[in-house]
Amino acid sequence: MKTIVCVVGARPNFIKIAPIMRAISARRGISARLVHTGQHYGSDMSDSFFEELGIPKPDINLEVGSSSHAFQTAEIMQKFEPALDSGPADAVLVVGDVNSTIACALVAAKKGIPVIHVEAGLRSFDRKMPEEINRVLTDRISDLLYTTSEDAEENLIREGVDREHIVFVGNVMIDTLMYNLDRAVPAVETLGGDQPLADNFALLTLHRPSNVDDPAVFKLMLEAIAEISRSLPIVFPVHPRTAKSIRDFGFGPILERSAIRVLEPVSYLRMLGLLRQCKLVLTDSGGLQEESTALGTPCLTLRNNTERPVTVTDGSNTLVGASPETLLTEFGKFQAGLGKSARIPPLWDGKAAERIVDHLDGWLSKNARP
Ligand code: UD1
Repeated sequence: MKTIVCVVGARPNFIKIAPIMRAISARRGISARLVHTGQHYGSDMSDSFFEELGIPKPDINLEVGSSSHAFQTAEIMQKFEPALDSGPADAVLVVGDVNSTIACALVAAKKGIPVIHVEAGLRSFDRKMPEEINRVLTDRISDLLYTTSEDAEENLIREGVDREHIVFVGNVMIDTLMYNLDRAVPAVETLGGDQPLADNFALLTLHRPSNVDDPAVFKLMLEAIAEISRSLPIVFPVHPRTAKSIRDFGFGPILERSAIRVLEPVSYLRMLGLLRQCKLVLTDSGGLQEESTALGTPCLTLRNNTERPVTVTDGSNTLVGASPETLLTEFGKFQAGLGKSARIPPLWDGKAAERIVDHLDGWLSKNARP
């Protein structure tokens, strides 16, 4: 029996690990040990995802919580090492690009345990994003790199990764979306029975430090979004980081004067219901760019770059940056029905996790440690 130590820490990780855990449990000869670093915690940001997505209870929770990048990363590393030592570990599998991803990958690599990175090779080419540092470094020390798109493979090869270590498998986040679409909570329920709003709204999420940590940038963006809400009402589940900025900068009145409906962070099935029924997505999240592409919903991304260019070249995503003018211009085009045509990217078919586990099974047999 081979044991894979699977790592999760933050909200998007839970969505990605669910189909991988399912595929591992369906396969003989491989088992998983699940480690939750505790980077995200509490019911809204963590527990509801485990319940709704049927992710097994973590074998170990490191309970690191929030702090600065250095402190959080270091604490995860210190606590992950004994967790790793406490049981079998033929490989460590990490997903995405959060601090938990790089911290655990680094610990495993130093102990000579193979590192498997799911969602490898994505690049925004913006080293000011903490996630970009996490992506580049995690890929550098990974032994097996599973990619979601062809551009990711090109990035890795350009950085000198041996082609043999890269496998294009598709997108596990879309596995979860397809698996759960029928269970999505109707938007009207999440919106407290407000049917007119459920029939006509845009969905907004914001949490990138570059957008919400700088009061000047955030204010201009919120004001432009408030203006949009007067044409198309907006539903806004607010990430804790963003809620803190709104409080600290005194931006509550901008929201109060608008047609923006503020919600606490919503569970996965509620988010899926909102995503499925909204007319438009406004976001700075990586996951939502992909999910809106999979559903064919127009998406305006409030960033200057994306590590997921396939959502722009193939999908329904348009980059608008942080400029209010561009946002309003692109919203005008959307309203005039000048949206782009879109298709679902290759291998975003709901079977990525099965392909990963199929491949991993063979790879582990060949690369078994003595
Ligand atoms: C992290 C990831 C980001 C991912 C996002 C999804 C890194 C570098 N960033 O950003 O890539 O897109 O998660 O949500 O790993 N907080 C809570 N409760 C929680 C979690 C966070 O209140 O359960 C608050 C804390 O005040 C904390 C702040 O949110 O200081 C930021 O949390 P953190 O995990 O450091 O980064 P995110 O902004 O969530």
